Amino acid sequence: MIQPRHTPFEAYRGRRAVVTGGLGFIGSNLSLALRAHGAQVVVIDSLVHGCGGSPANLKEFAPEIHVELADIADSDRVPEHLLGADVIFNLASEISHSADPADASRDLELNVCSQLAFLRLCAQHAPRRRVVYTSTRQVYGPPRYLPVDERHPVEPVDFNGVHKHAAAQYHLLMTRLGSIDAVILNLTNVYGPRMALGVPGQGFLAHFLAHALKGHSLRVFGDGRQTRDPLFVEDAVDAILLAGLASLSEHRLFNIGNPEAWSLGQIAELVSEAAHLPPPRLCPFPENRRIIDIGSYSTDTRLAHSVLGWQAATRLPEGIRRTLQFYGRQTFGEVSPKASRYAAVGAHDQSA
Ligand SMILES: NC(=O)c1ccc[n+]([C@@H]2O[C@H](COP(=O)([O-])OP(=O)(O)OC[C@H]3O[C@@H](n4cnc5c(N)ncnc54)[C@H](O)[C@@H]3O)[C@@H](O)[C@H]2O)c1
Repeated sequence: MIQPRHTPFEAYRGRRAVVTGGLGFIGSNLSLALRAHGAQVVVIDSLVHGCGGSPANLKEFAPEIHVELADIADSDRVPEHLLGADVIFNLASEISHSADPADASRDLELNVCSQLAFLRLCAQHAPRRRVVYTSTRQVYGPPRYLPVDERHPVEPVDFNGVHKHAAAQYHLLMTRLGSIDAVILNLTNVYGPRMALGVPGQGFLAHFLAHALKGHSLRVFGDGRQTRDPLFVEDAVDAILLAGLASLSEHRLFNIGNPEAWSLGQIAELVSEAAHLPPPRLCPFPENRRIIDIGSYSTDTRLAHSVLGWQAATRLPEGIRRTLQFYGRQTFGEVSPKASRYAAVGAHDQSA
């Protein structure tokens, strides 16, 4: 019989983890992985309207993962969960990108004001604890060179990028002040099971997948040649888990993406093929999207690899197939034996 291989994640067994934004796409996958690795998990999420959170993301595991429906800034309900926490994963966020100043206040409230209040609660009730904060590649703006490393200038093209950068800087400042012990991960586009396909503003991959699942053929803005390096959510979760454990000295900010970049046209073709749809069509860029488009992007992951020991493991065609399979509209052929490892562990957990 094959024995499960030793992973660094066994260190989470018995540990108490707080996951903010844990009802959302990445946060729910992270919470399930932590639970599968034997951690005690508390989720703090206020199910902000327009974000990707849903109680359905964790409903099968409801008795095992405590969910506190609260804003992360709630000084009455959050502190009791921070007391005794060994590690804090701070994923609560608005992720929608907009260049419209009318949307900036909401983004400021969610991504900066709530974050600052939360960090003050962390400093008070979980001093010097590891806090992993998920920021975004969007902070870099249009890349001046590829692949983008951690020294790339920060020049966001939208309010979300400015606010995510500000929140990351608050984490780093409070680390320098000795209040918390933060790690920042600048994530590229993440996709996979539990992404909020029905919610607008969740990025091009959610848009492609949602359309494909409805049987609609895909359209690609522009010439379709801009590159992206989409990351399967299990790989993003692995990076977050490693960041929660890493001993750090010099570096506290890591770019997390897929070493393999694809053009948007190729990605649309992959999704269309997997969903048995006609080939995608090109169409002109709408002006409100063109001004916040960053052109091509790919991630330099060498630092994350050398310091965190992380690298992506899932190639895009397999990730897309597994994502479409999760949403269950079609049978997309054989799934690799590694597939759905969290679902499998979850099933085991339930029967235990
Ligand atoms: N999804 C991606 O492709 C991507 C890319 C780069 C970075 N990120 C980052 O990863 C993190 C998770 O993203 P996601 O895709 O899972 O988003 P999501 O919208 O699916 O989940 C975010 C969750 O945070 C909750 N939330 C927001 N503000 C809150 C507050 N003040 N108090 C309590 N809960 C709050 C929402 O209710 C939601 O459930 C975010 O920090 C995001 O910026 C995501």
